[in-house]
Amino acid sequence: MDNMNQIVNEAMKRIKNSDIEMLKIVKSEYLGKNGILTKILKSLLHYSIEDRKKIGFEANKAKTILESEIEKRKEGFKKALLVQKMQKEKLNFSPIFYFPFSKGSFHPIVQTMQDMILAFKSLGFSIAEGPEIETDWYNFEALNIPENHPAKDVQDTFYLDGTERLLRTHTSPGQIRVMEKLKPPLKVVVPGRVYRNEASDASHSSTFHQIEGLRVDKNVTLLDLKIILTKFIHIFFCYEPCIRFRPSHFQFTEPSAEVDVKCLFCKGSGCRVCKNLGWIEMLGCGIVHPNVLKSVNYDPELYSGYAFGIGVERIAMLKYGIDDIRLFYENDLRFLKQF
Ligand code: PHE
Repeated sequence: MDNMNQIVNEAMKRIKNSDIEMLKIVKSEYLGKNGILTKILKSLLHYSIEDRKKIGFEANKAKTILESEIEKRKEGFKKALLVQKMQKEKLNFSPIFYFPFSKGSFHPIVQTMQDMILAFKSLGFSIAEGPEIETDWYNFEALNIPENHPAKDVQDTFYLDGTERLLRTHTSPGQIRVMEKLKPPLKVVVPGRVYRNEASDASHSSTFHQIEGLRVDKNVTLLDLKIILTKFIHIFFCYEPCIRFRPSHFQFTEPSAEVDVKCLFCKGSGCRVCKNLGWIEMLGCGIVHPNVLKSVNYDPELYSGYAFGIGVERIAMLKYGIDDIRLFYENDLRFLKQF
């Protein structure tokens, strides 16, 4: 009888410490065909009836205890496996799952345009838009650019095959579209993308962006133009970059000027970005040519105006210290993620 207790205790201990595989082994060692308890039960024949009863009773009791213990242990394993499986398959909605994805941001050109528009809004300008596919009239004729002008050359302009239409080479057609719709006084900026049939380098790209500005009223002078552009530059850059107004020529303004900013990269000593000039051209401007006013039926005797066209990429390059315009269009995330 002592032996039987010992067998049960030992078996219980082994069951308690076993894993799934060990449990199978323990079961067969005690209850299998040649298991310890099976052997004891088989050997009962050799005992007296008295002993047979006693030992048989105890052995069967031990067998029942061990069977139920093994069954319990098995159930425990099953439950643990199920929990493990459920945890694996459970969708994880914790914040860690979401935040590795970045929120994204505006492209630096879009961001620069928005900032520029904001600055012009603060100076009293309203916003208008025009189409990227234009006609010869809006892009050239109405702007006092005659039939044989070199700007109309196919080398500069992308014409749409077999049509009169073209990709606008500047945002100046926006001036005509605004004046056709509105009567003076007006003060508008027209942001947009423009196209030129030219090779790209560190400071040129065949696609770029401009913001056109136009003010028409009685007695608008060159001084108003200089004041507004100087104010814009100071608001936008939050410091006073060194600028110069340089006499220039545009068919649609008279007199005309270009505004240059001292090259930020070489501080004026000359580098590849400024093409060794020490200055970077940022915008063209001037007093609206009387022929342009006439083309939209404004009376040039009564009204005058100023106009300007600013290169957005040039401004973004200066603002962020970027020395190659092509970086804006290569979509390299390492570059774009900095903005
Ligand atoms: N349209 C001119 C350009 O693209 C810029 C400009 C606009 C000049 C308005 C004068 C007035 O170069």
